[in-house]
Amino acid sequence: TAIRLADYQPFSHLLPEVDLTFRLSPDATRVSARLHFAPNPGRAGHPDLRLDGEGLRLLSISLDGKQLDLTPDAQGLTIPAALLPNRPFTLQTEVEIAPAANTALEGLYISNGMYCTQCEAEGFRKITFYPDRPDVMARFSVRIEADLPVKLSNGNPTAQGPGWAEWHDPWPKPAYLFALVAGDLRAHSDSFTTMSGREVALNIWVRPGDETRCGYAMGALQRAMRWDETAYGREYDLDLFNIVAVDDFNMGAMENKGLNIFNSRYVLALPETATDDDFARIEAIIAHEYFHNWTGNRITCRDWFQLCLKEGLTVFRDQQFSGDMRSQAVKRIEDVALLRARQFREDGGPLAHPVRPDTYVEINNFYTATVYEKGAEVIGMLKLLVGDADYARALDLYFARHDGQAATIEDWLKVFEDTTGRDLAQFKRWYTEAGTPRLKVTDDWQEGTYTLHLQQDLPPTPGQPTKAPKLIPVALGLLNPNGDEVLPTVVLELSQTRQSFSFPGLASRPVPSLLRGFSAPVILERETPAAERALLLAHDTDPFNKWEAGRALAKDALARMILDGAEASRDWLDAMARVAQDDSLDPAFRALALRLPGEDDMAQTLHAAGHVPDPAAIHAARTRMTQALAQTLAPNLHALIARHSTPGPYSSDAAAAGPRALRLAALALQSRLDAGAAAAALAAAADNMTDQIGALSCLLEIGKGQPELDRFAARWSGDRLVMDKWFGLQIGLAAPDQAAAVTERLTRHPLFDWKNPNRFRAVFGALAANHAGFHQASGAAYRLTADWLLKLDALNPQSAARMSTAFETWARYDADRQGMIRAELSRMLATQGLSRDLAEMAGRMLGAD
Ligand code: ARG
Ligand code: ZN
Repeated sequence: TAIRLADYQPFSHLLPEVDLTFRLSPDATRVSARLHFAPNPGRAGHPDLRLDGEGLRLLSISLDGKQLDLTPDAQGLTIPAALLPNRPFTLQTEVEIAPAANTALEGLYISNGMYCTQCEAEGFRKITFYPDRPDVMARFSVRIEADLPVKLSNGNPTAQGPGWAEWHDPWPKPAYLFALVAGDLRAHSDSFTTMSGREVALNIWVRPGDETRCGYAMGALQRAMRWDETAYGREYDLDLFNIVAVDDFNMGAMENKGLNIFNSRYVLALPETATDDDFARIEAIIAHEYFHNWTGNRITCRDWFQLCLKEGLTVFRDQQFSGDMRSQAVKRIEDVALLRARQFREDGGPLAHPVRPDTYVEINNFYTATVYEKGAEVIGMLKLLVGDADYARALDLYFARHDGQAATIEDWLKVFEDTTGRDLAQFKRWYTEAGTPRLKVTDDWQEGTYTLHLQQDLPPTPGQPTKAPKLIPVALGLLNPNGDEVLPTVVLELSQTRQSFSFPGLASRPVPSLLRGFSAPVILERETPAAERALLLAHDTDPFNKWEAGRALAKDALARMILDGAEASRDWLDAMARVAQDDSLDPAFRALALRLPGEDDMAQTLHAAGHVPDPAAIHAARTRMTQALAQTLAPNLHALIARHSTPGPYSSDAAAAGPRALRLAALALQSRLDAGAAAAALAAAADNMTDQIGALSCLLEIGKGQPELDRFAARWSGDRLVMDKWFGLQIGLAAPDQAAAVTERLTRHPLFDWKNPNRFRAVFGALAANHAGFHQASGAAYRLTADWLLKLDALNPQSAARMSTAFETWARYDADRQGMIRAELSRMLATQGLSRDLAEMAGRMLGAD
């Protein structure tokens, strides 16, 4: 039962106002709803009224006070047209639900004694009968009755008394933005004065005891609110903004109007419990959810096919924000690394789908790296093509034209067309066609003219065998052989399959710096001499391409080590020695440059080049390469570590995190030379979680660290978020032939609470991320993962389906591994009662071979 974009129809009715009353009780919560409908003048005829509803016990239903005798089906309830007046009317229902029995964490559920909701995408239908689709926007009034001290919903509080509270949200919204929270909560409170001088009360609600861990998130929220005013002219629109942290949550966080609900891992942080990466992620996700207030809530999506309209844009905005708060260069490098690791991986396999899909079975399966991260890249390309000034004008028009609407990608592109006069029909293919384009580049040089020949190849993806050429912005700079820039960045627009671009009047053959800033999400294929890469690493003015040159040198070298058993490349080792020593470079940049390519990344790269990757060989070669780097840098490591120690109290800002990252990168190399002595000393002395985890990682990577792991567990066993790290680290860094066994052992640990999505992901996400361990030849990790996915699926289909992407890369590997993974996917698919979520994923993964 696939849903298709082509079948979209506006809803039969308008629903301007909704009144809800919740009488909370763990096993029998009563929800009464008064839905004030009116016929939709935009829909012809006199249609039935169809309401969504799942797992609801219907107690009563009446229309304008008259009882109806209707029986729901498994998906909802139809009120036949014959019973519907051709004027506004009120439908009243009462249903009973059981939040304590809700293990899927969708709809109304209980986490650690706290009532909370998750309604995106289609969770509201598990709360009451309702047109659960984003283009139906209503004003909500909510009454909550419960003997709990804190009772929250969207908008502003209007009245309260003993055991009840009432809320009203003045902004019409789709049901997926509804939220309710009730429990014994404590607030960390502050305020924000908007650009027009309005005072907004800010609260972060947490379990008692956690209120001391909210300071960083609060600061991040205030920075995000200010940034959206200055960068986009967007002001907050209620007197109150609430954030709630919950321990059991399927995703990262949710932008419910005025009441964001977060996975507690993206809120709670102290230097002792959170790493520098955690702090950066918290800042980004707090900002992301806040930015949704305009890009998502004030302007929402017409239907779920348009998900990238809000997610791609909001990711793009949170990336800009993080770059402004920290370092644009470092942020761009990290974002591209993530895009390649997650989105290119998805785009190159059986789960590939367009940024705007046109069909789905379960929409929760489309909250993907493609919709989010590639969706953000598409906006970055658009901004590059039209320029910063026109981008700003187009966004102003978007907010003015579509405020209060449920919009589409067509609406979004039209705003850019109207602003710039550009025809974006070809550009739109980035939204509708899947797959990562290959950009093939050759060049020649004749009498002072340098010519680049560009060619784009568009690989087939499921359901899309052939594709028309895309519009690819290729940012280019030229350097002369001594490293001076002779052509500052220009943007070439590749719109045909093959195109050449000439640059006359040059004194010598230049070295091209292609795809600066990673100007398009493509795979660049060009035979590039190591000397050119070294020149760009040393001299490119574009920080992304400077890093990219080092990365490409490393990948070329590692590929030769894997395929031909070569020694670690001298060019690369010498280049790394120069980078490590170059104090003019940002320490965070140096830490990134010294990081070796990941094993999954190498498998992806080798597969793309026509090889069958051998996970064990990749792991062995990468270990040899690390050892060679350690030996090359040996004379400098002590100084590198000493000079980048940050004295004084811990600070989470980028200026302090950069040196810490470089120091830990050096320590990891040092550990290969001193058998972990320096790392063990740091593990004993560290006063912050970044150093603690860094030191422990160094030890685990060289097969040590058991006493340190035990001490860590003794100290932190009462802290769920910190213990997630403990579980993940030892699995992620286990030796390939140990990974499945270590995982199996930890699933029997008393703290392995598999119903908690964070803990499940800490364990099985780490196993999947341990490339050589997951793909170890016996297939033990495949079996263990499939067993547990099946077990989880019975309780929490959404999380099980999400984690099943561990298997999406099967087609890269040899016949034995392919056979074993396919057998596990088939076993899942054949399981009685498998969820629609996991069935769709397993089916799609098997479908493409
Ligand atoms: N809109 C949320 C965000 O990206 C994600 C919520 C998705 N939840 C889900 N169950 N699919 O900020
Ligand atoms: Zn989002």
